[in-house]
Amino acid sequence: MIHFIIVGVLVLVSTFAVYTGLTSIQLFPKQASAEAIIIDNLFEMHWLLISFFLSLIVVFIVYSLVVFRRKPGDEGDGEHFEGNTPLEIVWTIVPLIIVMGMAVIGAQTLGEIEARDPNAIEINVYAKQWGWSFEYPEYGITTTELGLPVDRQILLRMQSDDVIHSFWVPEFRVKQDVLPGGEEFIRELRITPNEVGEYVIRCAELCGTGHARMLEAVFVMTDTDYQAWISDQSCQYSEAACQGKEWAFEFGCVACHSFDGTEKIGPTWFGLFGSTAPMEGGESVLMDEAFIRESILDPMAQIHEGFIAAMPTNFGEQLSDQQLEELIAFIMALGSE
Ligand code: CUA
Repeated sequence: MIHFIIVGVLVLVSTFAVYTGLTSIQLFPKQASAEAIIIDNLFEMHWLLISFFLSLIVVFIVYSLVVFRRKPGDEGDGEHFEGNTPLEIVWTIVPLIIVMGMAVIGAQTLGEIEARDPNAIEINVYAKQWGWSFEYPEYGITTTELGLPVDRQILLRMQSDDVIHSFWVPEFRVKQDVLPGGEEFIRELRITPNEVGEYVIRCAELCGTGHARMLEAVFVMTDTDYQAWISDQSCQYSEAACQGKEWAFEFGCVACHSFDGTEKIGPTWFGLFGSTAPMEGGESVLMDEAFIRESILDPMAQIHEGFIAAMPTNFGEQLSDQQLEELIAFIMALGSE
C-alpha cells in the first residue's frame, strides 16, 4: 500500500511538471480569432490528460524498475500473475468514460466554431497551383491578398481550379481542404478574426512544386481601414488594363505572378514592363511589349533567371486576341507605376 501512496504522489508531481512544461513552451502562435480561443481551450484539456497519462505510465515503470529490481545474489524467478479482473474492468471503463466525455466536448466545440452568423461577410476563395485569389461579391472586386475587418464573422466559400489545396492561417487555428470540381464541391470555413494584424495563409496540402511557396498575406483591419482597403482594390488603370486585370484572375496568372513585387513562382509584374531582366544563359533582355507577348504565347522561349520553367504553354489557345491585348495592357500599366 505504501508503494501506491508514493507512486500516487509522484504521478501528481510529474503531471504538474509535464503540464507546466507543455503549456510554457508556446506550441501555438498568437490567437487571432474567436475560434482560436475555443480550440485552444480544448487543447489545454488535452495537455492535462496527456500529462496525467504519460506520468501514470512512466512513473509506474520507473518506480518498478528502481524499487523492485533484482537484488545482488537473488537468482529466483519472479512471482507468477494470472490476471486481475477488477483491475481490467476499471482500466476499460475509466478510459471509455474519458473518451466519451471528450467526444461530447469535441462535438460542442465543433458546434461553437461552425455557429452561423447571418451577417457574416461572404468571400469566395479560389486556390490554384500555386496561389490564392479572393472575390468580394458585395463589392464586385477580386484581390490577391485577403483583407478582413476585425470582429466580424467571415464566411469563406472555397474552391480549387486544379488539385486539392488546404486553407490554413495558423493564428486563426481553423483549417479547411479546398477541392476541385466546381460548385458542388465548394467548402465553407467560418472565421471571426479578433486581432488587428498581418498574418500569412499557408497551403496545408502537398500540391506540387510550388506548394511551400503558396503563401498569401491576410490583413485584419479596423472597420475604417477595411473600407479604405476595399476602395484601394478597385482598378484605377485604363479600361483595357482593368479588363486585363480581370483576365489575370480568370486565367489564373495571379497564382504565380504578383502585382505588388512579391516573389512567387513566376516574376512579379510590378515594375516589370520597361525594366531589363537577366535570362537563363546570361543574356539581359528589355521587358518591352514584344517580349511580354512572347512570354505569354511561348513561355519556354526564354526563361527569366532564377525561376523554374513552370508556365503553361497553352495561353495562346486559351486567350482571344482581345484578351491578350488587354492582359498585356495591364502588365504594362503595372510596369509604369
Ligand atoms: Cu496548394 Cu499546397
